[in-house]
Amino acid sequence: MKKVVTKLDQLDFNLADLESMPVPEKVLVVNPSQFDVKYVINPHMKGHIGDIDKEVALKEWKALKNGYEDLGMYVHEIEGAEGYPDMVFCANQSLPNITSDGTKQVVMSVMHAPQRKGEVPHIQKAYEESSYEIVHLDESKFTDFEGMGDAIWHHKKRLIWGGYGYRSSLDVYKYISETFDTPVIALELIDDRFYHLDTCFCVLNEETVMIYSKAFTEEGLKLIGAIFPNVIDTNDHEAAELFACNATCPDGKNVFIQEGCVEANKAMEKAGFIVHEFSTEEYLKSGGSVFCMKMLLW
Ligand code: ARG
Repeated sequence: MKKVVTKLDQLDFNLADLESMPVPEKVLVVNPSQFDVKYVINPHMKGHIGDIDKEVALKEWKALKNGYEDLGMYVHEIEGAEGYPDMVFCANQSLPNITSDGTKQVVMSVMHAPQRKGEVPHIQKAYEESSYEIVHLDESKFTDFEGMGDAIWHHKKRLIWGGYGYRSSLDVYKYISETFDTPVIALELIDDRFYHLDTCFCVLNEETVMIYSKAFTEEGLKLIGAIFPNVIDTNDHEAAELFACNATCPDGKNVFIQEGCVEANKAMEKAGFIVHEFSTEEYLKSGGSVFCMKMLLW
């Protein structure tokens, strides 16, 4: 199915109509040896230049990596490249896909942030090693696309949720929908603290999503509600300061989340999820947390 939906009256499918997709079992992570805050490209980075405790950052990153291994996932670790302090956020440089006949493809990002453009070829190498077919966007047409930071797969379904407004532009989703033969539901982002979709929208399983509702338009909220029977909303503090919606639930059951999201955790546990808390304090200073510190791969 090739289409981009931006309004409720364009939505002509429901969950049951969507093709199923395998759950990714691999995780790509980038070692934080180069991680730092050296510039300000989102509101969370303000006041944090030079403020990263490298030792703590490494400890936090290792705990997360161990968490994926404990879930039985294969972890592919690559080195951070010198000069790219944000490369550790490896959700952003690409968007992978597996076709119904098992072909692995990836669309490489065109980073909106000039400081981050040079990260993309380093991440591409990891895909080449894993036999992915590499797709490049035509940079004369598309100037903004920050990968899985904005384009998020539905759990086990051939459907992409595409955020736009700050780091990715709406027009890129038509190309992605056609290339991956996948419908995209595009959601406009309207609060610059939530500059990537993965900061305010966390798919937990096929039926459940955790969001920060104030980051979306009315139309966006209608679209979310039309597909997900269970929508968990988060409060200002947990969403904006603890990045609650930047959690990840790779298997539809176990959720990894920044520690201290008391209300969000209560709601998720009530819905049957197993919550594992991690400290990502150093990464929050850069405007990132659990979800964007990895890429899920097939
Ligand atoms: N400092 C990084 C940036 O502004 C953080 C990226 C976090 N990634 C994410 N998908 N939310 O680009």
